[in-house]
Amino acid sequence: MNNKITLIEKQLSDWCSETFTACFPETDLSSIHLGVIESKKEQFGDYQCEAAMKLAKALQNNPRAIGQAFIDKAVLPDVVEKIEIAGPGFINIFLKNEGLSAQLDAMLGDDTLGLPNIGNGQTVIIDYSSPNVAKPMHIGHIRSTVIGNSLDRLYRALGYNVIADNHLGDWGTQFGLIILGYREFADQEALKTAPVEELERIYVESYNRSKDDDTWRDRAKAELVKLQQGDAENRALWEKFIELTLSEFNKIYKRLDVSFDLYRGESYYNDDLASVIDRLQAEKLCEESEGALICNLEDDNLNVAIVRKSDGGYNYTTTDIATVASRTEEFQPSEIIYVTDERQQLHFKQFFHICKKLGIDTKLTHVWFGLMRLPEATFSTREGNVIKLEALLDEAEKRALEVVKASSPDMDEAQQREVARAIGIGAIKYTDLSQNPQSLVTFTWEKALAMDGNSAPYLQYAYARIASVRDKYAAQFPDTNPEDFPIILTEEQERRLALKLTRFASAVEAAVRLHRPSIMADYLYDLSQAYSSFYQNVPFLKADEGPRESRIRICALAAAVLKNGLSLLGIETPERI
Ligand code: ARG
Repeated sequence: MNNKITLIEKQLSDWCSETFTACFPETDLSSIHLGVIESKKEQFGDYQCEAAMKLAKALQNNPRAIGQAFIDKAVLPDVVEKIEIAGPGFINIFLKNEGLSAQLDAMLGDDTLGLPNIGNGQTVIIDYSSPNVAKPMHIGHIRSTVIGNSLDRLYRALGYNVIADNHLGDWGTQFGLIILGYREFADQEALKTAPVEELERIYVESYNRSKDDDTWRDRAKAELVKLQQGDAENRALWEKFIELTLSEFNKIYKRLDVSFDLYRGESYYNDDLASVIDRLQAEKLCEESEGALICNLEDDNLNVAIVRKSDGGYNYTTTDIATVASRTEEFQPSEIIYVTDERQQLHFKQFFHICKKLGIDTKLTHVWFGLMRLPEATFSTREGNVIKLEALLDEAEKRALEVVKASSPDMDEAQQREVARAIGIGAIKYTDLSQNPQSLVTFTWEKALAMDGNSAPYLQYAYARIASVRDKYAAQFPDTNPEDFPIILTEEQERRLALKLTRFASAVEAAVRLHRPSIMADYLYDLSQAYSSFYQNVPFLKADEGPRESRIRICALAAAVLKNGLSLLGIETPERI
């Protein structure tokens, strides 16, 4: 990890900020964003600074005059060709081609491709996936797994020390019912072949019986109390349920190439719950209500949160407060991020608020997403959102195999399967990651596996094509080393691609800042399109020596950025498709 490469965007932002400060030394500008943004249209230059409009208010002056003051004062940095004032006071910044080439050169010489070490070793905890014991993962857990894992990779890439924590739902009143049901009607055969489904069946049946059978309900309660008091037999059963469930989930994590640093479920915090209540009581943050203890957050429009039920049991809010306290004390994280579906927004707002009142100032972020819609008959669905993930992944690989067989009939079967695995899993992940997570999307195989749209196969294919150009070059010109030639940008499409490549680090940084892997996906899609139009319009292997080598170097960088960028989404890049 290094900080040697100065990002162009950062350099320009610092420069704008310093120049404005020099123009108006008397005024405090610290609250105003004086940096640059990427220009939306080419005629507005490569970057734009909109600060003059914002300063106009603070300085009670007209924005164009402020922009003009900037232009008069500005000493252009090396990378800048020219600046212009436009419209009501925008400053348009045009970069020198040599500035872009130099940046590409620097990126090629760095294994992080210029990613800044923003995290600098700060610890960030990402709580994701977090399914429940004895229940199949639902579509929300799958999205949480894929989105959380991408955030995990993105944060690590920027130098954060990430702790990925799988906060399993492994505690609660349901275990009394499951233990009793297990003793009475477990199907041992089914527990071997489909453990999670069998455990769920046991739970549902036991629960249904408890509804109109008082004796059953009392027996289940007695089992729960025994478990809570540490009874050896019930503890062993409970541990077995966790083990059975995790052995299933781990198969899925393995296929998705997802791993966790911690598996600290809710039960890990059991012993802390009473002291959370003590703390809340000491700070007068909770009150009695019909036998229960509640935090009344109505003044803050957050309703009420029950922290101890009338039967003395604690619940989700209490555990989560204990979790924050424990994580904060043990790891001193600069941020804790939770990834779940949108239905839990109120829960997170509530306990974030309570933590703040308790004086815990760790930054807490809830990254939420909508549930993806699955059209009927896409794959086996139960109860709307419960799908068999294994079946979904199998289906993705099967369909991808058909695509690979059609595109590479000459590839041997084992390799076709390996490529199909990468494409199938990639397609599922990319569908989750490429959407703004807060919009409702419908999954379709056509879109997920499209070779020519915003899809994983399209990007993987783009990578494989670039790799093949590189190989062709090496075969045709075995004695030339492209590194001996400078990068020179002459053609329009070439410059566009170069500019896009220099923006890799900004895309990673924005994806992290906004907790949104879709920013990375959008960037990679745009990059592939820029590469495509470069490749189609600019002579390549047929170009003269010099431009040819320059282009092959740009091509190598495009391949590296695509490969790296896709790996930040957890997507593999086969060399051949
Ligand atoms: N187990 C919960 C569920 O399935 C998700 C837990 C999310 N993490 C947390 N710390 N609350 O809905």
